[in-house]
Amino acid sequence: MSTILVTGGTGYIGSHTCVELIKAGYDVVVLDNLYNSSEAVLDRIEMISGTKPKFYKTDILDKQGLKKVFDENKIDAVIHFAGYKAVGESVQIPLTYYENNISGSVNLYEAMAAAGCKTLVFSSSATVYGSPKSVPIREDFPTSTTNPYGSTKLMNEHILADVCVSDPEWSVLLLRYFNPIGAHQSGLIGEVPNGIPNNLVPYIARVANGTLEYLRVWGNDYPTVDGTGVRDYIHVVDLALGHIKAVEYAMNHKGAEYINLGTGNGYSVLEVLHAYEKACGRKLAYKIMDRRPGDIATCYADTEKAAKLLGWKAKYNIDDMCRDSWNFTLKNPDGIK
Ligand code: NAD
Ligand code: UFG
Repeated sequence: MSTILVTGGTGYIGSHTCVELIKAGYDVVVLDNLYNSSEAVLDRIEMISGTKPKFYKTDILDKQGLKKVFDENKIDAVIHFAGYKAVGESVQIPLTYYENNISGSVNLYEAMAAAGCKTLVFSSSATVYGSPKSVPIREDFPTSTTNPYGSTKLMNEHILADVCVSDPEWSVLLLRYFNPIGAHQSGLIGEVPNGIPNNLVPYIARVANGTLEYLRVWGNDYPTVDGTGVRDYIHVVDLALGHIKAVEYAMNHKGAEYINLGTGNGYSVLEVLHAYEKACGRKLAYKIMDRRPGDIATCYADTEKAAKLLGWKAKYNIDDMCRDSWNFTLKNPDGIK
């Protein structure tokens, strides 16, 4: 069976993807510097899948460390999750973001090329669509960014497209995620945000468990169903399954492909809040605030390309996502340790 290197494999999306890779029969090697995750996640992956992945505590900025991973393992393909992801923080410390997400990624691509491993799945984001002219958003829509984090994603897309032009042996899938939420049904792995969450569902989870008092709803004067922002929330397990299909596709094709991973459905902030109320069984307080700068009204994916190319479609709905988020929150009050 093929061996897949998962960078950022102890992180939120990476850990769920490791579980699905192991279930699909792949050998998995995880590389992570544990900046935003814990080594205990590897035990959780083992509890779910029966296999503990081989682990390297390595930074993608460390070229020698990367070389060691490729020297010691015959890697057939890489799924590259490692990186920083906080939009607001990227505005404060752009150079740190460019160094980690661009320089670190280039190091990884160089190490891959040197080892003759030219098959890659990259974590991009719907943020590369900037403020889309219409919805649903198709992969051929124009791209633009409004913050350094988004720029690191778009630059990686450009870099990898250039790499594929320069060498036709490369195969790269650029997966543009919409809004991943939820957790594994076991409640053993999920998202553990650092500090007070910025994202909607991790914030609601803390209102539900009493750590935070109420949800601040950023604006209710958007042209949407109830005036609050609409997004395409996708269950992290669906997203992980999309990566299995993506790796299979990448191993059997050449060149670069851009693919949306979303459900194609949009939910408003209040709709998500109400779904979470159902999940946790009580009313949750909220206050309407001013709009958050940089937010757009509505964002959801056109999912046809993913269905056609990968044969993949999300199957979990918003109630499943909130149920699994709440289950993980209840079972892990102190995160994963
Ligand atoms: P995460 O922070 O949970 O996981 C990222 C992992 O990368 C962490 O375990 C962290 O320790 C590791 N890491 C960071 N810098 C590293 C470095 N220099 N060397 C080695 N490891 C390093 O984040 P996530 O939510 O799982 O996101 C995974 C990827 O998906 C990221 O690239 C992110 O930008 C992208 N993405 C996430 C979302 C989202 O909403 N979660 C949306 C779109 C795209
Ligand atoms: N929201 C609130 N209150 C909160 C948090 C969020 O009302 O406390 C609202 C936002 O205004 C927005 C929606 O909930 O309408 C979703 O907000 P998130 O912060 O959860 O997600 P975004 O869509 O703003 O951003 C996410 C990722 C980015 C990524 C972007 C596009 O966090 O990294 O999707 O893919 F770039």
